[in-house]
Amino acid sequence: MPDLQEIVHEIADEMARRDDRGDVATYIPELAHVDPARFGLAVVAADGTLACGGDCDLPFSIQSISKVFTLTLALGLAGDSLWRRVGREPSGNAFNSIVQLELEKGVPRNPFINAGALAVTDVILSGHPPREALGEILRFIRFAAQDDSVFIDESVARSEKATGFRNAALANFMKSFGVLRNPVDFVLGTYFHHCAIAMTCEQLARAGRFLAHSGRNPDTGCSIVSAERARRINALMLTCGHYDGSGEFAYRVGLPGKSGVGGGILAVAPGQASIAVWSPGLDESGNSHLGRIALERLARRMKWSIFGQ
Ligand code: DON
Repeated sequence: MPDLQEIVHEIADEMARRDDRGDVATYIPELAHVDPARFGLAVVAADGTLACGGDCDLPFSIQSISKVFTLTLALGLAGDSLWRRVGREPSGNAFNSIVQLELEKGVPRNPFINAGALAVTDVILSGHPPREALGEILRFIRFAAQDDSVFIDESVARSEKATGFRNAALANFMKSFGVLRNPVDFVLGTYFHHCAIAMTCEQLARAGRFLAHSGRNPDTGCSIVSAERARRINALMLTCGHYDGSGEFAYRVGLPGKSGVGGGILAVAPGQASIAVWSPGLDESGNSHLGRIALERLARRMKWSIFGQ
């Protein structure tokens, strides 16, 4: 049996030495200040053992990784009727693309592209003021992570609100098709804030455990979603979690994963482990460059690819 902690350390050491780090996102000005030399990796194995390397205890902006949790919440609220508002197919386009939306009458391809996540946020908002909806999202993530110190970085939320013209365009466009039911400002405000949630790799890996273990947190025995729902969320992470880089991620890593422009990735090795990695430099699809390489190393050495060894 390979030694997980030793492998995590070796990967973290290798990543710290590399100088091909990708580029930190700058379109959200607050994210441009993040040090590209940071690297963190945390793995929680099935028995609850934690293996950590590098900056695994520094909070970073989870950005689009929050979409895994908002999707889980929205499915809990709306059940399968959610799929009338958003599709389940990979988009093959950039995360913030607007081109498909007009042809497909304002119905986004999947819940992980920005347009799809805005539709999901609209479902969570329904009937609640933004502050309450946001509170529900934060409480859910804290519960999943079993950690009440998870917080929203207000400076990141403000920074995105000031510059989020593309998301405003997407939301207005969907509103014009009747796909959003709440005021556009409510949807955008709630979305920017859930993207601005900050977590450490350790917290994120813990929060993802229910996806690795048939919907249950194996430590508490607490069931968060049914096994069927966990399996389906994993399927969406595999096919859509890295936008137009999803095929490459599946090919190289072979695990369901969800990236964020803060440089984080949450990956799931079903039955084996929940994994969080953070390296702020991104590739051309907006996914963490070294994060993906680190996961490729880990999945290969642990023989965790869902496609075989
Ligand atoms: O809406 C945005 O552009 C950001 N708040 C989130 C985008 C993101 O994380 C894409 N991921 N790689």
